[in-house]
Formats: sequence, structure tokens, C-alpha cells
Amino acid sequence: MRTIEWEDGVVVTIDQTKLPHELALLKMKTCEEVAEAIKSMKVRGAPLIGVTAAYGLALTAYHSTARNKQDLLQELKESAETLRRTRPTAVNLSWAIDRVLRKAEEAAEDVKLVAKAVMDEAVRMADEDVEVNRRIGRIGAELINDGDVVLTHCNAGSLATVGYGTALGVIRAAVGQGKRVRVFVTETRPKLQGAKLTAYELKRDGIPVTLITDNAVGYVMYKRMINKVIVGADRIVKDAVINKVGTYEIAALAHENEVPFYVAAPTSSFDLTRTAEDVIIEERSPEEVTYIGSVHVAPEGVDVFNPAFDITPFQYVDAIICEGGILFKPNYEAVLSVYKGR
Ligand code: MRU
Repeated sequence: MRTIEWEDGVVVTIDQTKLPHELALLKMKTCEEVAEAIKSMKVRGAPLIGVTAAYGLALTAYHSTARNKQDLLQELKESAETLRRTRPTAVNLSWAIDRVLRKAEEAAEDVKLVAKAVMDEAVRMADEDVEVNRRIGRIGAELINDGDVVLTHCNAGSLATVGYGTALGVIRAAVGQGKRVRVFVTETRPKLQGAKLTAYELKRDGIPVTLITDNAVGYVMYKRMINKVIVGADRIVKDAVINKVGTYEIAALAHENEVPFYVAAPTSSFDLTRTAEDVIIEERSPEEVTYIGSVHVAPEGVDVFNPAFDITPFQYVDAIICEGGILFKPNYEAVLSVYKGR
């Protein structure tokens, strides 16, 4: 499953808010449409929002009527700011935007060549993402044994990337090697990425999957029903992994129950200029919590706190799997050495 394509000035992706009941395509013609799709989580998952933002800049370049390089660069910078404002936590977003802007700046003076450089870079990033995920999968599969039952949270699968996935990529690769792997997935309130997306992906692939509520994690660990955890990341900083809210609780419970806790993420999710305290944790609308689907479940006017991500200190992480290898018991220096080599 490839989640994003460029078709003659139109970016085509999957509207993830319609899954699992409908596989609806979303066609975007402007950078503003791309920004809206990221903000409303029609498109989501750290690597995919990065690549989608790159395609958003490609749309600006493709449809631009700028007559010189300076004017096109100015338009691209404005689009970049619109995209940057959509979701603050996944570092892949600004990583992708900066990479495309750099290519535009380095391009020759001819405005057509600048536009081409931007479009080529977006396509290159999409292709690279699939390659990197396959590599993460191959590398990480060595941590998975025949018969393992692996818990995952949220969706770090094909749908969160251009293809193959990070955490689910590791599981896919292990299954591809003939290992029998079963997966437990948390529903992942409030947006239900686990119930809607991960369960959908794994069922499609014929990988046995069991859905649990978020608050059943302690019980399944206590009962030894799972023996490993693998999740993705939105940002890996100097001292912690930042991922979907609920990850920290799972990591702490895994630590308490001596269950290995692994994070699979590309180096484009690494941000070694910051510690966790410096990162903006996105807060989303109260309605995501007060409603389940279209049903209003909470009392009218109740105060809500709805952080979309949380922070798992490295002490709870047994290994980070990235395209550069496996970092066991990660610390700042170890992560930095792989980051520098990317
Ligand atoms: O809010 P979302 O659905 O974009 O959050 C997604 C996650 O937290 C994923 O675990 C993360 O982006 C890694 S995806 C390979």
C-alpha cells in the first residue's frame, strides 16, 4: 500500500478519517488543502505528514506563476509557514519542509528549474521513506522471535508512512521471514488510530490481531499475554521518545513487568537539538474527548485536557530501531552517533 502519489499537479492520498469502512481517496490541488488535511488528520503519522508537506510545497511550485526565482522562493516560504503551523510535535514535518526549501534555494536561477527541484525532492523523499522503512523492518525483525505476541499502540504502519510502516514494518518483516507473530493493539483514544487503522492494516495482511482498550494494557501484561512492545515515534530528542499519548504508560508498565519496549523510527524523526522539555506537545480539541464518534458522552461544559502525545524517558526504552541499526538502552551519545551518520 503506497499512501501518497503525485498525479500531474494533484496530490492523491487516502482520507484516513474514513477508514476502516471506506477506502476513500483524497485529491489535493493546493498547499492550503494539504495543510487542512494534515491539521484535521485526514493524513497523519510522522513520516507521512513530512512527505505530504513536501508534496504541498511541490503543489505551490507547480501552480506558481512567479516570474523569477526570488518570487517563487517567497511563495514557497509562505506555504512552508502555513504547513509548519499544522501540527507542532512530529519533527518530520519541519525536517521535510527545510529539506525542500534548501533544494529550492540551491537550484539554478530559472524558475522552472526551481519548481522541478522542489517536485523532484518531494518524490525522492516519498521513495526514500519506503526504502528506509523496509530497512528498519529488516533490522528490527531480528528482535522478534517465532511465537512472539507483540503489543503496539496507535498506528505506525503503512498508513503512517508512505509505505510498509515502522513498528508494523518490523512485524511485517518478521512475518515475512516465516515467524509466527500475533499482535495486540490498543484502540488509542481519542482518535482510535489503533482500532481503526492498525487493526485494518493487519487484518488486510492476514496478521493475527487482537484489539484491546487502552486501559487493558496492565492486565494483558500481568497475565503475560504479550511478550514485547513495539511503537513508533514522532520525535526522538536528547533524553526521550515522544509518541502518541499513552506510550509512556505502556513503557512504564512494560518496565514493571520486564517486557522489552522497542521504538522503531527513521532518523528523520530524530531531533538532537532539543530535550523533551523544549518540545511543543500538541493539544487538540476537547470534542475529541467529549465525543466518541458522533455520540456526546461527557457532561456539557466539562473541562478537558487533550494532549496528543506524551514523553517516554530513555530509561524505559530497551532499544530504538532505525535505518542505521539497533540502539540498545539508548542514551544521547549513542543516538547522536547514528544521527550524524545519516
Ligand atoms: O496523531 P497521529 O496519529 O499522527 O500520531 C501518530 C503516532 O503517534 C505514531 O506513532 C508516529 O507518528 C509514528 S508513525 C510511523
